[in-house]
Amino acid sequence: MSADYQHQSVLTKEVIDYLQPRPGQNFIDSTLGGGGHSEELLKKNKPGGKVLALEIDPHAVVASQRRLARNKDRIIIVKRSYVHLKEIWSKYKNTLPHIDGIVIDLGLSSDQLDRANRGFSFSDQGPLDMRFDPGQKLTASEIILTWSESELVNMFRKYGEIPNAKHLSHGLVTWRQDLAPSDFVKQKQKLLKTSAFVSAILRISYIPERELPRFRRHPATLVFQALRLAVNHELENLEQFLPQALEILRPGGRLAVISFHSLEDRIVKDFFKDGAKDCICPPQNPICNCNHRSKLKILIKKIIQPGAAEIKANPRSRSAKLRVIEKI
Ligand SMILES: C[S@@+](CC[C@H](N)C(=O)[O-])C[C@H]1O[C@@H](n2cnc3c(N)ncnc32)[C@H](O)[C@@H]1O
Repeated sequence: MSADYQHQSVLTKEVIDYLQPRPGQNFIDSTLGGGGHSEELLKKNKPGGKVLALEIDPHAVVASQRRLARNKDRIIIVKRSYVHLKEIWSKYKNTLPHIDGIVIDLGLSSDQLDRANRGFSFSDQGPLDMRFDPGQKLTASEIILTWSESELVNMFRKYGEIPNAKHLSHGLVTWRQDLAPSDFVKQKQKLLKTSAFVSAILRISYIPERELPRFRRHPATLVFQALRLAVNHELENLEQFLPQALEILRPGGRLAVISFHSLEDRIVKDFFKDGAKDCICPPQNPICNCNHRSKLKILIKKIIQPGAAEIKANPRSRSAKLRVIEKI
């Protein structure tokens, strides 16, 4: 962790144990963040081994460049999305001709969560932004102010599995009608305040603020999760990333995925399960005609989660889940 970037890497020991970095091997860190996983990989793959690291948050890029400066001849940091993994690697193929392992650590960093101006936390006064990449156009505020009621319902159901999505979306559309001035563009540019949005959610859900302490988790948690996934296309990105990662790994290379909630984990689990099967025909097919052959071996049958000591030291790690496969 560096002084200007607050994030404690999660499940680092387990990632290293499974990726087994050795001198001269090359790795991809698909979500560099504060550089914790990259740093450990760089310790183990010297001399000669390289790390290609991707990140879309410029603040994280600068902090990691500083943290990893002493390894700058062995790390290539690219400010681009892991959605373009294959294309990015093809540009650096001469430097990293074989990829021995890939790690992707999903979700957001503590640094992003704790900076009020990023708008990820419902307990802050910042703008309702939620972009990992501040250069992207779509913000959470724009979604809340401009998407139709049915688009909001679908978004809350798909990304938050929110049971009262219809009631909430109707309430938000009514609320924003009173809020938006005639100069709507100006309103959009300013971005809604996170606190105003949270108050609206509570009012629509008939929850007086004074009753908040009796909730185990804040009633806006799933709403914020849904918005963040929608703003950053996180589930769609993950779906695009997994096959590319498997493709560019060398045979015997390993892929480690850390996810933080069930929607992500389901995508990872299903991709790994299908990839490990020799046949993916529907069960009602009397004979196999899919010609599918297993491409990977699942190395962790269930999931690995942080132990009590890690959770005590870093409570935010508690929902992390690690899955690892090896390419056949
Ligand atoms: C949990 S943090 C990673 C922490 C990192 N493993 C460490 O040890 O410090 C996730 C990071 O992924 C980045 N990110 C999110 N979507 C991305 C994408 N599509 N491409 C690249 N990075 C992304 C976020 O900006 C965030 O910094």
